[in-house]
Amino acid sequence: MTKTSQGNSFISDVPHVSVAPMMDWTDRHCRYFHRLISPHVRLYTEMVTTGAMIHGDCERFLRFNAEEHPVALQLGGSDPKALAECAKIGEDFGYDEINLNCGCPSDRVQSGNFGACLMAEPELVAECYTAMANTVDIPVTIKCRIAIDGEEEFPFLNKFIDTISKAGCENFIVHARKAWLNGLSPKENRDIPPLRYDIVSDIKNLYPNLNFVLNGGIKTIEETQENLSVFDGVMIGREAYSNPYILAEIERKIFGNHDIQGRKKIALAMIPYIERQQKDYGVPVKSITRHMIGLFHHQPGAKQWRRYISENAHQADSAKDLIVGALKAAEKAAAAKRLAA
Ligand SMILES: Cc1cc2nc3c(=O)[nH]c(=O)nc-3n(C[C@H](O)[C@H](O)[C@H](O)COP(=O)(O)O)c2cc1C
Repeated sequence: MTKTSQGNSFISDVPHVSVAPMMDWTDRHCRYFHRLISPHVRLYTEMVTTGAMIHGDCERFLRFNAEEHPVALQLGGSDPKALAECAKIGEDFGYDEINLNCGCPSDRVQSGNFGACLMAEPELVAECYTAMANTVDIPVTIKCRIAIDGEEEFPFLNKFIDTISKAGCENFIVHARKAWLNGLSPKENRDIPPLRYDIVSDIKNLYPNLNFVLNGGIKTIEETQENLSVFDGVMIGREAYSNPYILAEIERKIFGNHDIQGRKKIALAMIPYIERQQKDYGVPVKSITRHMIGLFHHQPGAKQWRRYISENAHQADSAKDLIVGALKAAEKAAAAKRLAA
């Protein structure tokens, strides 16, 4: 018996924009920071493997802040039973969506037989989907590439989507490039294979009733808006991390929210959060401020902000001293620039 996720809250009348799952980057501190900038974007965890969840410290991997909603847990795995168990744990923790990683090409992931190599086994992915969807009431979604290795993109993706949608899956996030499982590093696999939005758009045309979120290479509001008119949603990865204030622009221009906070307010609002994390969990200041380095991207004083945080965070005990010091350095540089102009 399969269960469809139709009518779920994954795609609604509100535009669908999300920040991609990024290992070592989108931890709960990063997501809290992104959420301060944007109340509406959907956030994703880093990938958590079923092995880590079943045999490791679940609470440590899955803990998140109530403010993060809507937030999705990304799972890595290929055993339907283990995935179903982990999806249930994720649902019980309060996550809003379970996402299965079928797009990551790293060696470590391939040796565990999950990530992008799963695209070669659509029947297995369909089984994984069914096991998870039959166990939880929240949406189960799939994140994939358009193809792997020498496969021809359109027929390959078509077979993948056809097989998994027949199991009831309606929500796909597609990183619009191939993954080369041999010969390219994960980083190269995010840049070298060409972006093919046309393939994803052809697939959307073929399956108009399924939801497709486009991912890969989106860097501007204009690109986000343009792609939202073709696809059911847009997922932004690296740009949201290196230039997080783009999320404020998304709030304003895409969600129509004009009640957004300036960069300085966001920076100051992180201080009580960092203090709580230090006190409750012993989290070092630098583990949180590392995600804030890009806050002033392209603004006068951006370099001084970045440099102050980078040079001082490793020994910082006081979040307030660090952030106020970095703000002062940035403001001083911006004022000097204004005077010189
Ligand atoms: C540092 C880093 C870590 C990533 N980790 C994951 C991951 O855990 N799971 C996943 O599905 N994709 C992962 N990705 C891929 C992104 O989710 C996204 O698909 C990719 O960066 C393309 O989107 P972009 O061009 O907007 O960055 C990672 C990307 C980066 C840069």
